[in-house]
Formats: sequence, C-alpha cells, structure tokens
Amino acid sequence: MPELTFSHRFAPGERLGARPLLLLHGTGGDEDDLLPLGRMVAPGAPLLSPRGKVLENGMPRFFRRLAEGVFDEADVRARAHELADFVAAAREHYRIAAPIALGYSNGANIAAAVMLLRPETLAGGILLRAMAPLAKAEVAGGLAGKPVLVVSGQRDPIAAPANAARLKAMLERAGARVDHQILPAGHELSQADVALAQAWLQANEAASRLAS
Ligand code: MLT
Repeated sequence: MPELTFSHRFAPGERLGARPLLLLHGTGGDEDDLLPLGRMVAPGAPLLSPRGKVLENGMPRFFRRLAEGVFDEADVRARAHELADFVAAAREHYRIAAPIALGYSNGANIAAAVMLLRPETLAGGILLRAMAPLAKAEVAGGLAGKPVLVVSGQRDPIAAPANAARLKAMLERAGARVDHQILPAGHELSQADVALAQAWLQANEAASRLAS
C-alpha cells in the first residue's frame, strides 16, 4: 500500500454512490477548516482533506509564493504532482472514486494546477476565489469534458475575476467544461458561494446519472 504523505482527515460518506470531495484549504488553514463546508455542499459524501505542507510564517499552504499573487512556479508544479500522488494513494487506501476538488483561495489554485498537470486525478473542481497558478500550461485535452465551477468575488483584491477568466481559458484549452460565476463579494466566502456550489454539484450528479 503506498504511503499517505499528507496530514489529513478522511470522513467516509454515508450516502451510497456519492462522489468524494477533496477539500483544499486557503493560506493559514488546515485539514479541519473545510470539513463543515464540504458537509454543506455535499451531504453524505466521503471527504478527503489534506493539510498543505508549505509553511509561510507558520501558515500552511499548498505551494510557495514569492509575494502576494506571485507564485514559485517550480514549486507549484512539484507540489501539484505530490498532491496528485497523495490522492492516488488515498483512493487506493480508502477505496474511493476520483474526487471532485473543493478548494478555496490557495487550495483552489493548487486544485487548478493538479487539473492542468495531472488531469486524471480529479473528476472535476469547485474553485472558489481561484487564480491561474501557472503562466503557461502545456496540457492538451487531458480534461476531456470534466466539469469545473470557478466562483470569483467582484471586489476580490487578491484573486481578481480577470485572472480567474485566464484560468477558465486555460482549463477550457485542456478540454474542461467551465462555468465561471462572479458574485458581489470580496475574497471571503459568502452564503452565495455555498448555494452555487450545492446547485452545481447537484446538477452535475444528475447529469452523470443520466450519462451512465
Ligand atoms: C495564493 O497565494 O495562492 C493566492 O494568493 C491566494 C492566497 O493564498 O492568498
């Protein structure tokens, strides 16, 4: 059995056939942070929630940055592969299907990097207050039809909607089906994010039931 190399929580789901969520916290969060959000967005789904291994002034993150909004791209790439390897090992260990990522801020950014660099890892993504994690991604078509919801805040000074629009274009070039919503909000999450994520997930579950 491969080793599980991230501190994490795993909550088995009690709803049969529910798609697991991979919860990815923002800067300064940990593996407990998004469990309540995950339960709200996908009641009864298995939840896998790792803690980012990079410390910035003691605050956990999923990759190194050189300044606010300026990412260390070599580290983004290395950490995206490390997280993808963890998800593969955790899937085997806990016997779960490929998860949908639910990431906030730095967690949404690493989820986007995993989708671009290791497209087989995730079944889709809910990326809240996300930015493009790489200037250029060399993926072609690896995401074939996978659904992604990107939710920006109109007044977000950190992850501007224009930057998220660049991410949308990158994901679409890789084959994903991306819905980009912009809320009248800042960087913080709001109740409207929860409602959007719930509705999007339900619509996608219904669509995949129809397709199978
Ligand atoms: C990042 O560093 O990933 C973004 O700037 C979001 C943040 O964590 O503040």
